[in-house]
Amino acid sequence: MATTFKTRLGLLAATVGSAVGLGNVWRFPAETHANGGAAFLIVYIACMLLLGIPAMIAEFVLGRGGKSDAINVFGKLTPRSPYRMAGIMPILSSFLILAFYMVVAGWTFEYLIQSLSGNLFDIKTSGASELETSFHYKMEQYVATVTPPLLNLYIVLIINFLIIWAGVQKGIERLSNIMMPLLFALMLLFCVVSLSLPGAVAGLDFLFRPDFSKITPAVVVNALGQAFFSLSLGMGVLITYSAYYPQNTNLVKTAYTVSGLDLLVSLMMGIIIFPAAASFNMTDANLRGTTLIFVTLPEIFYKMTGSQLWSTLFFLLLLIAAITSIVSICEVPVAWIQERYKKSRLTACTIVTLPLIVLCSLCSLSFSALSDVHILGMTIFEFCDTVSSNILLPTLSIIVCLYIGWKLPKSFFYKQITNDNTINGKMASAIFFVIKYLAPPLICIILICSFIEI
Ligand code: TRP
Repeated sequence: MATTFKTRLGLLAATVGSAVGLGNVWRFPAETHANGGAAFLIVYIACMLLLGIPAMIAEFVLGRGGKSDAINVFGKLTPRSPYRMAGIMPILSSFLILAFYMVVAGWTFEYLIQSLSGNLFDIKTSGASELETSFHYKMEQYVATVTPPLLNLYIVLIINFLIIWAGVQKGIERLSNIMMPLLFALMLLFCVVSLSLPGAVAGLDFLFRPDFSKITPAVVVNALGQAFFSLSLGMGVLITYSAYYPQNTNLVKTAYTVSGLDLLVSLMMGIIIFPAAASFNMTDANLRGTTLIFVTLPEIFYKMTGSQLWSTLFFLLLLIAAITSIVSICEVPVAWIQERYKKSRLTACTIVTLPLIVLCSLCSLSFSALSDVHILGMTIFEFCDTVSSNILLPTLSIIVCLYIGWKLPKSFFYKQITNDNTINGKMASAIFFVIKYLAPPLICIILICSFIEI
């Protein structure tokens, strides 16, 4: 990674690039679908405003104030404190998250290739029954095979290896500067198409008309997990990135901007998926959350003129969005190995990639050959996803909040928020109060619920 971001736009693009990814496009609709729609959305937004944004500010303060990566920052600021052990968590969660994230990126790659070749829309010619020709059947069949998903997974692993090896900033950052706005514009177009489908209103109802009886502890746990996942919190990515922020960056404003854009992308995705799912009469029975976007989106493209073009563009942009997030996650262990063990970038990338090959393969196979293997009632894929998002990410966030609130001097926080008294820190006291007193117990209660759930 470069040592500082050059422009405010570049810094925003990199942070938004990390936040916006499969979490918004693939995981958000899947979670919303599995947790009852609008009720989940409300809890999700509440988690984001009340806990997510303050936790993000806490990471920014720690990163820019500590000027070190997430794993070493605690030991650097307070060498003998037990807090330095917290550095272990980002290593663990980065591998668990990458394990399943890469698999979905592999699916995205498959859909990109299928869109390019036109095979994706070649569904009329088989002449089989309606179910067999549907996109749903296609996706279910695809994930249940062994070799093709593995091959795509390895291709994504290689692409990722090359990018982190080459260094993130120049290529990926410049690319995401152009690609992110393009993804945004395309999604806006798909929103319009989806909303104009017959029967779309039922989908909007599902997304926006809450049924409060659906709010259970599990829904709250999942909403918090999704908020943390989507904002790239609790894994040290934002600590590492903010160490490269210049001193005059307004941290509070940056946190609001990143969170706002991230929420917007998720909402747009909901507005695309649910009306379309309702319009195509997809019932709960034939929808698995995990594969939702790979079924519904092709249906939308199919209805549009120029299906192949839209589909290719979309999956290409999605793959890029996924890669900007993957790279941000990889950067945490790679930067750490490089610094701590004084290894070359190539060696560090190799050390990170080798265990990933095994872990990712296991996740991929959990839809086929290993579908009977369950850990605590979950498949390997679900286990990696649930444990990292619902347990590890919130735990590190609690630690960061406690560290800022109770361990470091209060002036450390104020100095970062007000940029050394050069900007107005109106909100500083309120944010500090949330970080110190509110966020730790609230996140803790939700965490305890998640243990009971499991
Ligand atoms: N936020 C990204 C997404 O929504 C994924 C991601 C990137 C992430 N970095 C992270 C998730 C760190 C958790 C922690 O796709």
